[in-house]
Amino acid sequence: MSNSQHYDVLVIGSGGAGLSLALKLADHSMRIAVLSKFALTTASTYYAQGGISAVFGADDSIESHIDDTLDAGAGLCDAEIVRLTVTHGKSSIDWLRQQGVVFTEEQTASGHTQLHLNREGGHSHRRIVHTADATGKAVSLSLIERAQEHANIELFEHHNVVELIATKDAEKRIIGAYVLDSKKQQVKTMPARVVVLATGGASKAYLYSTNPQSSTGDGIALAWRAGCRVSNMEFMQFHPTCLYHPHAHSFLISEAVRGEGGKLILPDGSPFMQHFDPREELAPRDIVARAIDHEMKKRGIDCVYLDISHKSEQFIREHFPTIHQQCLEFDIDITKQPIPVVPAAHYTCGGVLTDSYARTDLANLYAIGEVACTGLHGANRMASNSLLECLVFAERASEDILQKLPGIVPPPEIPDWDESKVSDSDEEVVVSHNWEELRRFMWDYVGIVRTDKRLSRAMSRVELLQKEITEYYSNFRVTSDLLELRNLVIVAELIIRCAQQRKESRGLHYTLDYPETDDSKPAQNTVLTPRPFERH
Ligand code: FAD
Ligand code: SIN
Repeated sequence: MSNSQHYDVLVIGSGGAGLSLALKLADHSMRIAVLSKFALTTASTYYAQGGISAVFGADDSIESHIDDTLDAGAGLCDAEIVRLTVTHGKSSIDWLRQQGVVFTEEQTASGHTQLHLNREGGHSHRRIVHTADATGKAVSLSLIERAQEHANIELFEHHNVVELIATKDAEKRIIGAYVLDSKKQQVKTMPARVVVLATGGASKAYLYSTNPQSSTGDGIALAWRAGCRVSNMEFMQFHPTCLYHPHAHSFLISEAVRGEGGKLILPDGSPFMQHFDPREELAPRDIVARAIDHEMKKRGIDCVYLDISHKSEQFIREHFPTIHQQCLEFDIDITKQPIPVVPAAHYTCGGVLTDSYARTDLANLYAIGEVACTGLHGANRMASNSLLECLVFAERASEDILQKLPGIVPPPEIPDWDESKVSDSDEEVVVSHNWEELRRFMWDYVGIVRTDKRLSRAMSRVELLQKEITEYYSNFRVTSDLLELRNLVIVAELIIRCAQQRKESRGLHYTLDYPETDDSKPAQNTVLTPRPFERH
């Protein structure tokens, strides 16, 4: 038994959600630990490009932002959560500016300075606050700096959560986590009065993804194994425009490029979005990604192209400096030529079911950011609504934690992680092979267009992998790769199960077997409840 490091709040994740929560709590004299699986910046937040949606435009309104979000969500958004989130847009941006984030500004005709607003798919107005085309980097670096300065926050890089720890009584409250220090290869016990999952999404379940290595759905799998409900996992979002180049790893071409007039074209130069939606390039993401997928499959082409070269070089360099530079490194000059693009897995709309204060099904366990399913996104997230969700739900969780913490007793003694029955692995290749296999069949069978047959093929493979991984996990010492694979296979199962339950096409879930949206009854969320034997 060793309860040496005891925290008031253990935040798992150093992205926008986790760091915002830690900073919001830190002035209230408590001890907070923030864990990051890799370096602090290895998080989707750091890579965010377009920006954060909030109503600032003179012609814009809260009602319009709500309507656009509901429309993109295809009948499945929780209207109260949408209103709650959208009404906190301006205060969230103000808070970030107080933390030192500098957003792009412009001069008005009358000489005033104001925030420059991007436009993206699904938004009927310009409402995306941004820092050129590298908003996430600006947000991450400021939040990390503030957290590093704060005496009440301890940051742990390369610390990978193995399992949540719960009491054994009927109340079953969460009291900490077992955590692998992957540099020292040692599993620590980290007791805490409150634990917060801020672990991001699960897009790495797919072969092609815009996400960094960290997005393996760990928080979803951890919560599921602990006994929390998980919802709407069939709604995996594919971003329409990821750079297509053999040496480019997951580089996103922001939707803001289409917002500024970028046109999607076929290899012969002809546009095609007019055949799919009257909003053309600015239709919601599910529609654009499906249109590209359709054209690629119909024509047997490897990619389509996104062309912004009709804009002046100065405009492109000013608005998209990162994209311009990154493409130049692959010999693509976006001021003169179109950009080859393909869709890639980008965002997890479903996740751990939470209420409006980010509370999960288990006492003292919260979930915020992409790991959570709050009801904001419904069947399809609208662009730039997710960083906003991270900020708003960090605020909501902090309010609830501050109120509850004085009444939460410190955790009891927790036994150390037991490694007495395991040895070092002699076949790491099993893990890397299974990783590759899983991500490939998820891409082929559970991607943008699904069928019942493809889903059941994928499920048979998941079942086989689960057996192998469970055996491997029981016999060998844990490594970071093994932990991720163990979580990914659970997440894959949850995505497939949700997809199998939805007998219609809606938002991001499109199946050839039920190509229409079922409007004969009210839209339903897909909610999965773990039974004890399911907690692998
Ligand atoms: P993340 O930022 O992904 O952070 C997750 C953290 O959890 C990481 O620190 C990770 O190490 C840690 N973690 C995970 N598992 C474990 C574990 N087992 N143990 C310990 N730590 C763990 N959204 C917008 O609103 N606007 C945009 O412009 C935008 N652009 C995007 C561009 C790209 C390329 C990508 C990938 C996403 C973009 N998104 C955008 C989506 C948005 O960035 C994410 O949804 C959001 O940043 C998620 O924040 P988060 O804090 O929930 O998770
Ligand atoms: C982008 O810049 O296209 C990403 C925006 C988002 O995912 O919200």
